[in-house]
Amino acid sequence: MCGIVGYTGKKQATPILLDGLGRLEYRGYDSSGVAVASGDEIQIVKAKGRLFELEKLTEGVNPAGTTGIGHTRWATHGGPSDENAHPHFSRDKSFAVVHNGIIENYLELRAFLSERGFTFRSETDTELISLLLEYYYGGDMLDTIIKVRNKIKGSYALGILHAGDGDTFYALRKDSPLVLGVGDDENFIASDIPAVLPYTRKFIIPDEKEIAVLTPNGITVFNTNKEKIEKTPIVSDLSAADAEKDGYPHFMLKEIFEQPGAVKKTVHDRITPDGIRLDRIKLNGKDFRKICVAACGSAYHAGVVGKYFIEKFARIEVETDLASEFRYRNPILGSDCLTVIISQSGETADSLAALREAKRHGSRVLAIVNVVDSSIAREADDVLYTRAGPEIAVATTKGYTTQVATLCLLGLKFAHDCGTISHDEYLSLTRELKAVPDLLGKYIDEVNGKAQYLAGKYYPASDAYFIGRGYDWAAALEGALKLKEISYIHAEAYAAGELKHGTISLIEKNSLVIGIAAEPELREKTLSNIKEVRSRGAAVIGVTDAPQTIAAECDDILELPETNSAFSPLFTAAALQLFAYYVAAARGGDIDKPRNLAKSVTVE
Ligand code: M6R
Repeated sequence: MCGIVGYTGKKQATPILLDGLGRLEYRGYDSSGVAVASGDEIQIVKAKGRLFELEKLTEGVNPAGTTGIGHTRWATHGGPSDENAHPHFSRDKSFAVVHNGIIENYLELRAFLSERGFTFRSETDTELISLLLEYYYGGDMLDTIIKVRNKIKGSYALGILHAGDGDTFYALRKDSPLVLGVGDDENFIASDIPAVLPYTRKFIIPDEKEIAVLTPNGITVFNTNKEKIEKTPIVSDLSAADAEKDGYPHFMLKEIFEQPGAVKKTVHDRITPDGIRLDRIKLNGKDFRKICVAACGSAYHAGVVGKYFIEKFARIEVETDLASEFRYRNPILGSDCLTVIISQSGETADSLAALREAKRHGSRVLAIVNVVDSSIAREADDVLYTRAGPEIAVATTKGYTTQVATLCLLGLKFAHDCGTISHDEYLSLTRELKAVPDLLGKYIDEVNGKAQYLAGKYYPASDAYFIGRGYDWAAALEGALKLKEISYIHAEAYAAGELKHGTISLIEKNSLVIGIAAEPELREKTLSNIKEVRSRGAAVIGVTDAPQTIAAECDDILELPETNSAFSPLFTAAALQLFAYYVAAARGGDIDKPRNLAKSVTVE
């Protein structure tokens, strides 16, 4: 989704804006631009395509000036083009605006402005905001922004430059992410913290609809009543190096290898000799009749693993929903239900809406989130941070495994609360979970070569079917998503038992099937399904910790370590991430920024 950076200080703004936009590239975009104030004028440079197209036009410091805003655009209203790229000027060029989000009353506002004689240079909803600023401007910027804010509906993070305001610029947000970076004699806005980490580690997170006025000497925040409010900055524990590739060819590969450390941070200090301590969270499994999980993409897949885990150990019913469905299906919830919203970014629009819907129905909401102080973290009743560190590759890896590990912690705590496992079993499972990160580290080192070899053999495939049962089906969902999103091979996951109900008709000679068989109780059943596809000509990669039991029916084996099957999705995920990564590398895709995808989906 769109990325925003803004700067005011003593240095030239353009290089800092370009640097920040480079750090936001991972979010996905198709055009970019900067606006810089100089004297009584604002200059805009923008271009369709990748950031280097903009860099060619700016030649380092052009436009010159020490206050500016920049943007990477992921097209919504109107296709990718120079005209639709942000920033957008008002008619008289006295305002320039960058925007992330969607203005929902776009048509109404366009008509409103047309009736008042305005014409439009672009097809975007953002241009309407610049025009509204010009229309409502009466000499006071705060009053003007408030009038525009009252007029627009939808989601927005906005950076606003006004010609003649010297080194001052403005920002506000609603349902879209934006942070204010506090520096020495310089201040910033950005869509996320890593974008400006080389310049500051101090951040203010504005609340919904608050207006920030930034100058080099300070940031003043006004609440919705136009009162000045004190905001205490948080200090990020991230460093600029966390957002570098560190010698890896892609962020995705770096992040795959970071998983043991990330999972360790997630679980280690939450497992004490006496059992699990979930930060300051007071939830007790006994208080809940039902748990509803709502999330999108991989976070939803983590939720499916969580369902199997929590139901197995804590015996609490778990429903899993795609957040985009949950928000509109009028779910049956109440105070005896816990809704768990899972999100790496903490900004996914559907997941945020699902959270609000759950609260509206009186459910307590627990967020499992990676990005600290993100919207979902702030609006939930309780938060468990996954502590994965910044995840830059669009395809999530450590974000997913740390979500799964967090759900294991939650499941075991609830099982203990509910007395559904013995104390000894509880302690033994927590010990096993605590040992996972080290085992995962060894495993990733070992399986890397085999995954690369298999990718070299199977990368020309045009379709791939991931099958499994129970935890293995949950892991299959994530394996298929990883492969399709970065390699563009059509890949789907099926519960192995469902194949005969339709999908098996697609299997023909050389169809690629990834058969996951890590659950001992279900291995024989999955093996039967592997035999069925193989007898119809499929090439099968078996993913298992017991190769001797299925090797005869597979063309190749991706071996898993011996571990409690309840934790196997963490290892299966790592193996399939590596396989997907090397397949995509062999096919020459843009691995960290796959086509059409955005890292953080902040619009519906
Ligand atoms: O930030 P979130 O965890 O809420 O994101 C949810 C999905 O958009 C995300 O997992 C997406 O499916 C990834 N591209 C998967 O790799």
